Amino acid sequence: MTNQPVLETERLLLRPFALSDAPRVQQLADDFAIADTTLNVPHPYEDGMAEEWISNHQQQYEKGELVNFAITLKGESSLIGAIGLVIGEKYKRAELGYWIGEKYWNCGYCTEAGRAVINFGFQQLDLNKIFAHYFSRNPASGKVLEKLGMVREGSLREHVLKGEKFEDLEAYGILRADWEIFILPPSG
Ligand SMILES: CC(C)(COP(=O)(O)OP(=O)(O)OC[C@H]1O[C@@H](n2cnc3c(N)ncnc32)[C@H](O)[C@@H]1OP(=O)(O)O)[C@@H](O)C(=O)NCCC(=O)NCCS
Repeated sequence: MTNQPVLETERLLLRPFALSDAPRVQQLADDFAIADTTLNVPHPYEDGMAEEWISNHQQQYEKGELVNFAITLKGESSLIGAIGLVIGEKYKRAELGYWIGEKYWNCGYCTEAGRAVINFGFQQLDLNKIFAHYFSRNPASGKVLEKLGMVREGSLREHVLKGEKFEDLEAYGILRADWEIFILPPSG
């Protein structure tokens, strides 16, 4: 793939992560409120974890396996979260994942970033489907997916083990055909 682009929305710039983002990633992600409803964010978020995570991005992007964007506020250029696609090239589909620093919740940032990433996935990666799973006990994430035009495909009972507990997941998705009909605006 070519170099990862920067995506622009009304309030955000979504750009590749740099190693220099690691302290800020650790600062935001070392928060139980984020780890609690994600599968891949460790807790505690220890020194070196962010560096290791970021250092794999470029190679995974070049292999066409993954694209991760740092969500930054325009103007201030503060990093407020992360959003990405895990790409399954064989099936022309990708899984959307995201987190936003708690201080920035409920401002519409995840939805705004998600629209840009979905547009990128269909327009630039030529995907046929983008899907997402969230813990059933995390309705804010479900709200984001609905605002992105995804439809609920079902529940996956006790689908993952998180700590000591099996968690129910909700499965959502958007097809290229849906996206073409209800083309999402680039921001807002
Ligand atoms: C889920 C998450 C990414 C949402 O980010 P965000 O930037 O706050 O999302 P948005 O502001 O775009 O939208 C959130 C929506 O959820 C709604 N919401 C928030 N808490 C809610 C709740 N308990 N029940 C129902 N809806 C809720 C908000 O009102 C908003 O909807 P609205 O715009 O119609 O008012 C953020 O909460 C987060 O990072 N959580 C921890 C990590 C995580 O769960 N990641 C997702 C894993 S699948």
